[in-house]
Amino acid sequence: MCGVVGYIGGRDAVPVLINGLTKLEYRGYDSAGVAVLNDGRINICKTKGRIQNLQDKLLVNPLQGHVGIGHTRWATHGVPSDENAHPHPSGDRKIAVVHNGIIENYMEFKEELEAKGYKFLSETDTETVANLIDDYYRSGMDILDAVFKVLDRIEGSYALGVLCSDFPDQLIAARKDSPLVVGIGDGENFIASDMPAILNYTKNVYLLDDKEVALIKADSVKIFDADRNEVKKDVFTFDWDIEAAEKNGYDHFMLKEIFEQPKVVKDNLSRRFDSNGKVTLDGIKLGKEELANINRIYICACGTAYYAGLIGKYLIERMVRIPVNSEMASEFRYKEPLIDDKTLMIVVSQSGETADTLAAMRLAKEKGARVMGIVNAVGSSIAREADDVLYTLAGPEIAVASTKAFSAQVVAMYLLTIHLAQELGKMDEKTTMEIKGYMEELPSLVNNILAKVPVIQRLTQKYIGSKNVFYIGRGLDYIVGMEGSLKLKEIAYLHSEPYAAGELKHGPIALIEDTTLVVGIVTQEELFEKTVSNIREVKARGARVLAIAMEGNKEIEKYADDVFYIPRTHWMLAPLLANIPQQLFAYYMALGLGNDVDKPRNLAKSVTVE
Ligand code: AGP
Repeated sequence: MCGVVGYIGGRDAVPVLINGLTKLEYRGYDSAGVAVLNDGRINICKTKGRIQNLQDKLLVNPLQGHVGIGHTRWATHGVPSDENAHPHPSGDRKIAVVHNGIIENYMEFKEELEAKGYKFLSETDTETVANLIDDYYRSGMDILDAVFKVLDRIEGSYALGVLCSDFPDQLIAARKDSPLVVGIGDGENFIASDMPAILNYTKNVYLLDDKEVALIKADSVKIFDADRNEVKKDVFTFDWDIEAAEKNGYDHFMLKEIFEQPKVVKDNLSRRFDSNGKVTLDGIKLGKEELANINRIYICACGTAYYAGLIGKYLIERMVRIPVNSEMASEFRYKEPLIDDKTLMIVVSQSGETADTLAAMRLAKEKGARVMGIVNAVGSSIAREADDVLYTLAGPEIAVASTKAFSAQVVAMYLLTIHLAQELGKMDEKTTMEIKGYMEELPSLVNNILAKVPVIQRLTQKYIGSKNVFYIGRGLDYIVGMEGSLKLKEIAYLHSEPYAAGELKHGPIALIEDTTLVVGIVTQEELFEKTVSNIREVKARGARVLAIAMEGNKEIEKYADDVFYIPRTHWMLAPLLANIPQQLFAYYMALGLGNDVDKPRNLAKSVTVE
């Protein structure tokens, strides 16, 4: 949830840290700070608010030094304030710590340290870590041993960066259940909780595994496992461009990412079909034999990725005829799920680091399931721990509201469904070739929708005063409405609910009044008549209706106030197209309401705590 960055080398540390924090601000933005080591002293500058506030403060009190750590925060323990902002020093400023994650048992240490005379200035769990390292170090331990000792005692998750004023030539980093990489430069090294923070300086990194600790100097990196054995790791090279993490002229990352979707869809389809329409998914070793051994499939994820999973469930059940359980990862662990070595667990995640998804996946693995990750972030924890990985090739997604990653996940679901159907003899060549033809059109169809931005802008102006928004539909239309509704909540802060159209009469129709907007999604032609009767019911109760339909459906114009047409396509591909106007609608609604689209209130990009 927070962003961590660190630097050691010949450059002035502060500009490098600020540059990194700016790139990480999407991970948390309620306070920020840096600590720099100079002349045997740790100097700290931190403040409530955005990175800009920190920069303003640094202009008045500049800090210098060649080794430092920085942090941008999404509050867990304690309100956003100057005191609770990271880095946190130990009482005498010998140690300074930045931390992403949650230390669950910190109260235990806090009391122990208070009894020894330590005073605490913040409400955070992190300050306890700084003081605990200090306490062990003062007892005569080597600094690295002191860090290991603390890591042995703390429970929870962490990505940590640690400075000690007695060692101006080194920086210590550690991780557990929270991402952290060590960036490798020439005579300089870095740490970062996410790659964009250091992409300006290097693409080469060591991916730290859980419980590993790195001792980082300007010209060397040593990595140790939990038993303090030095481990040799391969250098991992990211092939992302620096531009991928920049706005490139767009007003917001979200808009840029929406407009990247034709390319993302194209990249995800490229080289997947052979000339006979057979789908090959690199990284997935699920042939007929492996599938014969599987009698249960779970698809597990959170938020937007969960909705992509629901599309997968719908398609696999309908087209491959295998039952699939789709589960929210945050619920999965607590229901004693039925898992054994005949279970296939598919986890879907943009970041590959979402705490609940990771935990659900680990539980499934522990119980013998085969685990497949559908992941965007290369080298992330889910990607590394899954048995099979299908990368969603969307490039870095910076905006908190997920757009292009969702489209890429939906394409992955299409491909997986076809792959499973082909392996199990459930799809003939004629059907495959027909769907393949439609899929190849998708990038240009997405482009056609993006060309209709002025239509969406006009619609948002018309509906901006709505007090409640319902997204209704049946089958795949209902699922796509869930994603539309989430986008509107996240960035427009408008109360909205997705509802299976047929369920409205069982209660929620009582909420319909003339300030209600109902987005009726009617791309599934076999369900059209049914959804139309529900649209008529809400119209009769005063709601205004904005429909999303496929071109050529003139009938819907009789019942809806407005219709946004998506190009005609195969029924299974309609969710991908129907979602694009929903993304734009949420975006322009949020803009119209004056919200910060890329940094919506209370949210952070990766939810790496439970
Ligand atoms: C979507 O707009 C979200 N911000 C959120 O729901 C996100 O999809 C969810 O947190 C899962 O993240 P992941 O894909 O990185 O696992």
